[in-house]
Amino acid sequence: AGIISTLILSASAYSAEMTVGFSQIGSESGWRAAETSVAKTEAQKRGITLKIADAQQKQENQIKAIRSFIAQGVDAIFIAPVVQTGWDPVLQEAKEAEIPVFLLDRNITVKDDGLFMTGVAADSVHEGAVAAQWLIKQQDGKACNVVELQGTVGASVALDRKKGFLDTVAAVPTIKIIRTQSGDFTRSKGKEVMESFIKAENNGKNICAVYAHNDDMAIGAIQAIKEAGLKPGTDIKIISIDGVPDIFKAMMAGEANASVELTPNMAGPAFDALLAYKKDGALPPKHIKTESILFEPESAEAQLELKKDMGY
Ligand code: AHR
Repeated sequence: AGIISTLILSASAYSAEMTVGFSQIGSESGWRAAETSVAKTEAQKRGITLKIADAQQKQENQIKAIRSFIAQGVDAIFIAPVVQTGWDPVLQEAKEAEIPVFLLDRNITVKDDGLFMTGVAADSVHEGAVAAQWLIKQQDGKACNVVELQGTVGASVALDRKKGFLDTVAAVPTIKIIRTQSGDFTRSKGKEVMESFIKAENNGKNICAVYAHNDDMAIGAIQAIKEAGLKPGTDIKIISIDGVPDIFKAMMAGEANASVELTPNMAGPAFDALLAYKKDGALPPKHIKTESILFEPESAEAQLELKKDMGY
C-alpha cells in the first residue's frame, strides 16, 4: 500500500505542475458546451491546470489564442479546429517553441503531420455513413427526398459527414438529396435554413427526411416543421449526429428518429496521451478514434439518464 500511495502522490504532483491551453471553437451547440465542461472535469481529475480560450467560431481568434499560449509557455496546446485548413504557420511556431499540440474533435490538413502530436476524434465519414444506412433501412426501397443541414463551412466534420452520407446513398437511386445548405451547427440557423427549404418544397410536402450534421440544427429544423403545420418524426423523418440530451427528449416526444452519438469526452484521452508523453516520451497513435453508435427512440430515456449521471 505504501508503494501504491507513493506512486499516486508522485503522479499527481507531476501533473499538478502542468498547464494546458485549450483553444475552443465557441459554444455553438449543446455538444460543444458539454465538451468544454467535460474537459474541465477531466483536467481537474488529473490535477492539470486548464486555460480555455473561446474563439467565437473564428479561426483568427484561435490563432491569436494559440500565439498567446505559446507566449505563456504552456506545457501543451489543445485545439478544436473550427476549419480544416490554414494552420501550418501557427503550428510551426508551436513546434519551434517545443509545445506539443493535440487536436480535439475535428481534423486538419497540414503539409507536415509532425505539427501535431495526435487528434482525438470520431471518423466523421463513418458517422455520415451510419446515418445514411439507417435511412436506407427505414425506407426499405421507398423513395425519399432528403434535405441536408450542413455544419460550419470548411469544418472537417461538415465535409466528412456530407461525404459519408452521400457516398452511402449513392448506391440507392430512390434516395435523393434535394437541398443542402450550411446551418453553421447552430439551432437558430438550422431553423432558418429549414424554413427556406420548407417554403421551396411545397410547404414541406416534398420532403421525406432531414439529415442534420448535428442535433442542434435538427432541433431548429423540428421547430420549423412544427410551425409549418407538419409533424417532425412522422411527416418528415429526422436523423442527426451528437446524441445530446435535447435530441433524446425530442425522440421521447416522437419528434426525432435517430442520432449518431459523438462522445463529448475528447479531452480525457488527450490528457492521457500528454501525460504518457511527458512521463517517458511515449508517442500516441496519430489518430485516437472515438465510437459512433446510433441511438433510436427505444433507448432515448436510458440515454438521457446516462447523460444526467455524467453531469451534462
Ligand atoms: O466537431 C464536432 C461538432 O461540432 C459537433 O457535432 C457539433 O455539435 C459541434 O458544433
